[in-house]
Amino acid sequence: CGVVGYVGPRNAVGVLLDGLRRLEYRGYDSAGLAVHDGVNIKVVKDVGKVSDLASRVEGMNLEGGLGVGHTRWATHGDVTGENAHPHVDSDGRFVLVHNGIVENYLDIKDQLEREGISFVSQTDSEVIVQLLSKIYNGDMVSSLVEIQRRLEGSYALVILNREDPNGFYCVRKGSPLVLGVAEVEGLCASDVPPLLPFTKDVIYMDEGDIAEVRGGAIRLWDKDGRPLERAPQRVDWDVSMSEKDGYPHYMAKEIHEQGAVLRSTLKGRLLEGSVDLGDGVNWTPDFLGSLRRIHLVACGTSYYACLVAERVLERWTTLDVKVDIASEYRYRDVRIGADTLAVFVSQSGETADTLAAQRKVRAMGGRCLGITNVRGSTLAREVHDLLLLKAGPEIGVAATKTFMGQLGALYLLALKLGWDRGDLNPAEAERLASILLKLPYEVERVLERESEVKKAAETFFGFDNFLFLGRGFSYPIAMEGALKLKEISYVHAEAYAAGEMKHGPIALLEPNVPVMVVIPKDGLYEKTLSNVQEARARRSPVVAVASDGDDLICQMADTVIRIPRCDECFSPFLSVIPLQMFAYHVALLRGREIDQPRNLAKSVTVE
Ligand code: G6P
Repeated sequence: CGVVGYVGPRNAVGVLLDGLRRLEYRGYDSAGLAVHDGVNIKVVKDVGKVSDLASRVEGMNLEGGLGVGHTRWATHGDVTGENAHPHVDSDGRFVLVHNGIVENYLDIKDQLEREGISFVSQTDSEVIVQLLSKIYNGDMVSSLVEIQRRLEGSYALVILNREDPNGFYCVRKGSPLVLGVAEVEGLCASDVPPLLPFTKDVIYMDEGDIAEVRGGAIRLWDKDGRPLERAPQRVDWDVSMSEKDGYPHYMAKEIHEQGAVLRSTLKGRLLEGSVDLGDGVNWTPDFLGSLRRIHLVACGTSYYACLVAERVLERWTTLDVKVDIASEYRYRDVRIGADTLAVFVSQSGETADTLAAQRKVRAMGGRCLGITNVRGSTLAREVHDLLLLKAGPEIGVAATKTFMGQLGALYLLALKLGWDRGDLNPAEAERLASILLKLPYEVERVLERESEVKKAAETFFGFDNFLFLGRGFSYPIAMEGALKLKEISYVHAEAYAAGEMKHGPIALLEPNVPVMVVIPKDGLYEKTLSNVQEARARRSPVVAVASDGDDLICQMADTVIRIPRCDECFSPFLSVIPLQMFAYHVALLRGREIDQPRNLAKSVTVE
């Protein structure tokens, strides 16, 4: 879910709607807002998107300088108008929006019901506002301290009080919340983009923080109600970065930004004779020398970036490498010690499972490195060491440019470890560094070839099942390609290691099951080619993502999409792009909502 709050001289309605549009990637089942007109608070909410909310609000003459808004990704309670936020207590005094999950809400609800309070929704969020109303003692801060003592789980709350027309309150635990500080106005939101039209000065709220926002004046307290001093930080994103820039969808824009993203992720980090991961990473030579194990942990697309990194770390270092999905890793009996570096990769830095996995490693004495795109995110603040992608805000729900940034960051990491530990010989390390440095240009060459991919999508968009294949470095890319297609076009796509096809999925092959094969000219090329032949023998149409100059593949595949030839370790940077574009064009031809696919949310802050 996404939350936003505003207080200042403008009409809050426009600010909230604009903010919600910029947060809609976080959920779009339902949307709502509340505005204080100086006397009363009016609430408008329903099932549907922010655009539906905007039409509903139009003509209602809603006005006021104070308000809150919410866009929902349902967890507790169905997608209904009653369950949409904001929620109001029975006295109509407090109005609240919430992102997160309150785990003990049934117990609290039970107790409140026994005391005669009746509920209109099935949400855990309404329980918070009713509880607040019950324990309110005339002082907001101490009431919010008490609320935190009673609630278990995660929450970012923004609260209006009917008796207070000039300010709002925020509480943050487990779910992100950022405050925006401007001269005469104050804002808060789940993420930075809604703040950017007003200010670049932000305060990231910490665990347990309580904030009061009154025009440009912001006051903060910790979870026990002790006042805090925290200076705003300046963000280096600007508002144009979170706009579509003439592209029909954010996803299209973000795919085309990938050359620039890789360039800025690498910038200043590849030096003569070494890699500099920046001030966020503080490793001594002793620590690097004592390392034996490296664990890479993430979810979704970030996990596939880790699988690529696994292969490159195995090649460039002598470390034992382990990769896992965060929701599995956090419950496994993994061996972790002082010789373990654990790397947590998360675009948002807010994925609940990834954060939990990080806390586990920390508690067990491992060293934690976070790789994220969001400077003030929870992950960024909790890890020992931090490596930032420089991708700019990613709004499309399907991750594209952040995957590119993650690959860049992970390759820098692998090169640094190989180089500094002496696992790579220096001449080889120099050679790899120079390839990496030129890679953004190669990425841009692939981006120019969109028309080839579009043609392939036009041929294949009507098929309902796809098999994606790849070996070695191309196997995780096949997985990422299948994920992209599933996510935004709702077409069933399975990815397999090409060599594994004969152990099951081959039974599915027939003329209406196309095989997408990622087959750059690398050490495993011939092996993958035999798998292509096996698919052809079952009369499956074959689409190949193959290297320039590979003529053989033309005889085997029905459609060939070309990428530049490159050293095999680096092919993922190039081969992923046609697969992102393929998913995009198939989704477009199928009439899907590309930037907001059904049932998904970009940032999964719940377990
Ligand atoms: C969600 C998003 C994916 C993303 C995954 C991990 O499922 O829809 O695009 O890859 O979360 O997110 P993170 O922010 O941790 O990279």
